[in-house]
Amino acid sequence: MADHAILAGKRVLLVIAGGIAAYKSLELIRRLRERGVTVRAVLTEAGARFVTPLSVQALTEDTVYRDLWSLTDESEMGHIRLSREADLLVVAPATANLLARMAAGMADDLAATVLLATDKPVLVAPAMNVRMWQHAATQANMALLESRGVRRIGPNDGVMACNEYGPGRMAEPMEIVDAIAGVFAAESHRPLAGRRAIVTSGPTHEPIDPVRYIANRSSGKQGHAIAAALAALGAEVTLVSGPTRLPDPAGCRVTHIETAREMLAACEAALPADIAVCAAAVADWRVDGAGDRKLKKDGGAPPALALTENPDILATLSRPGERRPALVVGFAAETGDVLAYATAKRARKGCDWIVANDVSPGTGTFGGSDNTVHLIRADGVESWPTMPKDAVATRLAEAVAEYFTGK
Ligand code: CTP
Repeated sequence: MADHAILAGKRVLLVIAGGIAAYKSLELIRRLRERGVTVRAVLTEAGARFVTPLSVQALTEDTVYRDLWSLTDESEMGHIRLSREADLLVVAPATANLLARMAAGMADDLAATVLLATDKPVLVAPAMNVRMWQHAATQANMALLESRGVRRIGPNDGVMACNEYGPGRMAEPMEIVDAIAGVFAAESHRPLAGRRAIVTSGPTHEPIDPVRYIANRSSGKQGHAIAAALAALGAEVTLVSGPTRLPDPAGCRVTHIETAREMLAACEAALPADIAVCAAAVADWRVDGAGDRKLKKDGGAPPALALTENPDILATLSRPGERRPALVVGFAAETGDVLAYATAKRARKGCDWIVANDVSPGTGTFGGSDNTVHLIRADGVESWPTMPKDAVATRLAEAVAEYFTGK
């Protein structure tokens, strides 16, 4: 359970949308207030069909904010001030409809408008029928919101008010309290504030001609997760990404490139930096003399592609000099003798740390969600258990923070 002491004195703006779980939000208000949280509530029109404004008002001991167009509310408390004067926005219950409106950036009622106007962290507690939750539209909306930095608690599995079983039940009030404490704990833990980081991620595409290219199977998942994890610890992150199917991670500046040479130029443009993490699967070679005319079959022999070596971004950033980042981290994707090859690679590239992983067929690392890595530093090797790529990223970001804080 999260430490609730952090909650005292915090201000939460609670958006109650129209779902049967709204009754639990009344309990949530009580649990938060018991812990010293000031709660202000916005009730949607549909929300007011499930809980009465009077109950919400009595529990928050404040006005209940309902109408975008109410002259009194707007003059006494504009929607901008409503979000400005909160430390966190919590949407509970978050209905499929409100999630869709949030994802679309709509501002058609007070709830959607405060959520669009805010720069504060947002936590949603979805609650809906299992099929609505599992619908591709809801899943896509939720994924988009999460990629923008919206946090989520639940939904839980269970029997729902509509007598169906599955995920869709809103998290219990105390689980939401825990999640809120977790958000505040994460917000106050920013050991990399003031540090600049460059992260490379994804594959590169090397043109053969204007319509064809050489590429590789990198998904970019690990590099993107590292960029997000460094940003979550307060670093100012520039993510230089090759073509991937991933959304831009929250809180990072993203430069999209295609070729290794473009990746190098983007990294150099992002200097100076304190940290560089090269997680991209950069193509080692490009086609020499790839032209701007499409290669044609002319009935003769297939074209012979002459390859030439690409610049090594990791080695370039690791080169001693004034602009060298204080900590340069490379990756080593190996298919055997992982530690020996990766240790040699650390020396050859001149970087400080190498994150080595086994990408042999069957490990599922390429494109998969888990990773098994070894962190190789000057003073030895740490082997980490298999864990999701997000968790690898968080642990690596914490190690980077420890390097700078000396803890
Ligand atoms: N890398 C880079 N630029 C390149 C090639 C690789 O920045 N042109 C970086 C990768 O991002 C990774 C590390 O170097 O951090 C290791 O890359 P890898 O391709 O595994 O190593 P290679 O240099 O290709 O060595 P080998 O082919 O012997 O495995």
